[in-house]
Amino acid sequence: MKFDIAVLPGDGVGPEVTAEAIKVLETIGERFGHQFNLYYQLIGGIAIDKTGSALPDDTLKMCQECDAVLLGAVGGPKWSNPGATVRPEDGLLAIRKELGLYANLRPVKISPMLTNSGKLKPQVLEGVNMVVVRELTGGLYFRKPKKQWQTPRGRHAVDTLAYSEWEIERILRVGFETARGRRKKLTSVDKANVLQSSMLWRQIAIELSAEYPDVELDHMLVDACAMRLIQDPAYFDVIVTENMFGDILTDEASMLAGSMGMLPSASVAGIPKEGSKIFGMYEPIHGSAPDIAGQHKANPIATILSIAMMLHYSFGLIKEMEVVEKAVNEILKKGYRTSDIMEQGKTVIGTKEMGSLIAGGIEN
Ligand code: IPM
Ligand code: MN
Repeated sequence: MKFDIAVLPGDGVGPEVTAEAIKVLETIGERFGHQFNLYYQLIGGIAIDKTGSALPDDTLKMCQECDAVLLGAVGGPKWSNPGATVRPEDGLLAIRKELGLYANLRPVKISPMLTNSGKLKPQVLEGVNMVVVRELTGGLYFRKPKKQWQTPRGRHAVDTLAYSEWEIERILRVGFETARGRRKKLTSVDKANVLQSSMLWRQIAIELSAEYPDVELDHMLVDACAMRLIQDPAYFDVIVTENMFGDILTDEASMLAGSMGMLPSASVAGIPKEGSKIFGMYEPIHGSAPDIAGQHKANPIATILSIAMMLHYSFGLIKEMEVVEKAVNEILKKGYRTSDIMEQGKTVIGTKEMGSLIAGGIEN
């Protein structure tokens, strides 16, 4: 089969991890007889430098014409002056919004090979397998007013946490449907003891649950959820939550997997279903990691696993998705580690070696 993919490497370690993911994708293409046409485009800081815009029109247009988008990371100290009029992150937010990608799926699965490498006790990590469904185009990130201003009494700033019923309903449905395809347990995370937007969220969740009698719904306050994620992470099957809560909770959850460098994500404009294909943008949950950029240290596994999600959701290639995940596990089993997941007795390797080993492990 033939697929068109827009590739947006971005800034910092973005180009390094993207290159390794493409290596794996091309190996899949060769082994399984698929043609992946790649269209490289600018986004983020590099796009600001070259065009003045964090999301150039050409980039957006190309993404709209493709079957899927692969994104590395955006941002870096060069563009992070608080007075800057345009920021790399604006490009990322704009592309999510323009493509209507309101649902961000972030699976947190712990490779049994890595339960000893992180900071948490292995027995806490046993059986951890969850998906966080993060709302991605609303809430504090987008709603207006959003500004800073000055008065004689000093400077002021405002961001707005607003949600409409239709936005809450569609993201909750992604949560319910995702849970339906798994262990049928949905935890809706909010701050309904304080926030009006959360009270509406919880109300709609309760109403919708009547349509999903097979899914067990519970509600958790976001602060309690943050605690539970460390205390008893195996409790969770599917979490569904507001944009910023989801951003914060998934960085926390990535520590369960040992490193941010392990977690992939898919952003979609609907409900991914077996047997059908959905347009999506795929990116690691980590950022541009300017501290290690160019040093050949970044872990490409999150981006490689994002390719696995692309094969699954956007191309309907289940076998190919499984082969990528298996190749990642095999390399970890053999004891190869990037420095972020290194532990005693294992072999530390760089970004390119990790990509090449995983690509070399692709079998059909
Ligand atoms: C993420 C990132 C972005 C976000 C930043 C870079 C704007 O942290 O994808 O989680 O906050 O959504
Ligand atoms: Mn984040």
